[in-house]
Amino acid sequence: MRSLLFLSFVSTSLALQFPFKVPFFQSTVPPEDDEPVRGTPKVAIIGAGAAGSSAAFWISKAQHRFGVDVEVDVYEKTSHIGGRSLTIHPYDNDTFEPVELGASIFVKANKNMWRAAQEFNLTLRDLSKEDNDLGIWDGEQLLLNLGNSWWDMLKVLWRYGIMPPRRADSLVAGMLKQYSTLYTGDSPKWDNITDLAHSLGWMSLIESSGADFFTSNGVSKQYVNELIEAATRVNYGQNIDSIHALEAACSIAANGASQVEGGNWQIFQRFLNYSSANIYTNTKVSSITQKQSKSRPWVVHSDKGSTGYKAVIIAAPFHQTDIELPSALVSQIPEQPYVHLHVTLVTTTSSSFNREYLALSPHENAPHMILTTHEGVRQGRKAPEFNSISYHGKISEDEWVVKIFSEAPVEDKWLQTVFNGQVGWVHRAEFDAYPRLPPTSSFPPVRLDHGLYYVNAFEPFISTMETETLASRNVVDLLLNEEFSSSICGPRISGSTKDTSVADNDFVFGWDC
Ligand SMILES: Cc1cc2nc3c(=O)[nH]c(=O)nc-3n(C[C@H](O)[C@H](O)[C@H](O)COP(=O)(O)OP(=O)(O)OC[C@H]3O[C@@H](n4cnc5c(N)ncnc54)[C@H](O)[C@@H]3O)c2cc1C
Ligand SMILES: *[C@@H]1O[C@H](CO)[C@@H](O)[C@H](O)[C@H]1NC(C)=O
Ligand SMILES: *[C@@H]1O[C@H](CO)[C@@H](O)[C@H](O)[C@H]1NC(C)=O
Ligand SMILES: *[C@@H]1O[C@H](CO)[C@@H](O)[C@H](O)[C@H]1NC(C)=O
Ligand SMILES: *[C@@H]1O[C@H](CO)[C@@H](O)[C@H](O)[C@H]1NC(C)=O
Repeated sequence: MRSLLFLSFVSTSLALQFPFKVPFFQSTVPPEDDEPVRGTPKVAIIGAGAAGSSAAFWISKAQHRFGVDVEVDVYEKTSHIGGRSLTIHPYDNDTFEPVELGASIFVKANKNMWRAAQEFNLTLRDLSKEDNDLGIWDGEQLLLNLGNSWWDMLKVLWRYGIMPPRRADSLVAGMLKQYSTLYTGDSPKWDNITDLAHSLGWMSLIESSGADFFTSNGVSKQYVNELIEAATRVNYGQNIDSIHALEAACSIAANGASQVEGGNWQIFQRFLNYSSANIYTNTKVSSITQKQSKSRPWVVHSDKGSTGYKAVIIAAPFHQTDIELPSALVSQIPEQPYVHLHVTLVTTTSSSFNREYLALSPHENAPHMILTTHEGVRQGRKAPEFNSISYHGKISEDEWVVKIFSEAPVEDKWLQTVFNGQVGWVHRAEFDAYPRLPPTSSFPPVRLDHGLYYVNAFEPFISTMETETLASRNVVDLLLNEEFSSSICGPRISGSTKDTSVADNDFVFGWDC
């Protein structure tokens, strides 16, 4: 297998350009106007998470820059903005700092999230500065127990050697280098995610498991099965031998891990606010139908009525929306299993985990962040009862908040055991958190029909808040190009763009154009 280091030299001149090569889906309804074209054209966005809120934001950029005449309606079935990004106050008492319940971290390479936090004057909390002592648990024993001392670092070197981490790092650096081209003025535009993977030189990453990719590129099996797997299990609830290598690489690309103080959802709320779209919360879309109309061919039906639109953006995992679509459209969207994750927040006056549970010797301290590996199971031992457990700071002098991710619900009795009988408040949530991400080379279509787009087609490729904002930027460019002969950064999308690929690290495509 070729190394990413070489792949990273693939030139972005392979970038896909309009017009698309994929033949457009035939509408079942022939376009024919049954109404005079009057008023401002309307676009509907379904979902107000990272994807939907940023889609509204990108459209508004074209409105401001080029006067694109469009009115945007955002439908959100819940009462909150942010989707899988949401916070909760310990004890449901807002005198305590809110804690992220869903998506909690983004990194410096995530330029849209980073830039948005800056532009909207939100404060970032740098998590990499908060030294949490880390352990890796295999279900029966702590394979690794890292305090923050040089002695602990020596133990890592002893266990894995110097080369595995360095090889893994350079593979990830190669991936990130390609990834960063998505923020340049000549970023590829795509209507087919496989083609995008091709142009980024990522086919071997999506077609191999993390285990195969990293071991065949010289990273030791032990490092892959323990450390990299700990990262894929905490980030995606999946083992290193069943997740594709692109998502595995994203899991260990953690430089500058941060979150927005008070909650990441504020970025998405600001996106919507900036866009001045109409926002309909507590409004569930039940179906989308087609009618004979050039100006409003798509009808969105919700519990608040039915409205015609020029174009519709679906910004939620389709099979979780319960939206009815014409069958010819549904059949294009493959079933997509998601990892069902239990998130449990606990407050405790116990300053650390039960050392007996972790089978520690008397002089060993329990780490405050415990990640897990499936390696014990592969060797016939017991499975870990959780994917990750981490202390998340204090809510008072002697009380901590702890977050637990697990595949099954954690019982009260178990909580009493691991927190030495000192459990305060407990909050349990469940999510269809992220797609199952086995190696693959096929992805759902980004464009379902003329005027109908699907942002979350991107999730089985990479599933993060940031990449949802990238996927929506791309979808909005497709939409503006097709329906309004415009784009986010130019009145015409296919015209020659000025040279924006200057080596300016602060340049972010879509923001700076
Ligand atoms: C526990 C957990 C931890 C995570 N950790 C991270 C992390 O650290 N970093 C990271 O980047 N990502 C993380 N993720 C993944 C991240 O949350 C997602 O990739 C991202 O938030 C998806 O955004 P989205 O807008 O595409 O979808 P969603 O956030 O799911 O938004 C979709 C919205 O559509 C709405 N909707 C659905 N159906 C309808 C309908 N019929 N009508 C109207 N509205 C509808 C939903 O209510 C929802 O608000 C995590 C996810 C979970 C669950
Ligand atoms: C919220 O917490 C504060 C500080 O601990 C406490 O004084 C207050 O009574 C709590 N409020 C409620 C409604 O429990
Ligand atoms: C930005 O945030 C700081 C600190 O929170 C605040 O003092 C300042 O007024 C804010 N500026 C704007 C323009 O909102
Ligand atoms: C949007 O921003 C304005 C100005 O900062 C603020 O007054 C308003 O409350 C915000 N609206 C929402 C929905 O956040
Ligand atoms: C994307 O393109 C590949 C060929 O590169 C093709 O096999 C696949 O069907 C296309 N996917 C979609 C969703 O159109």
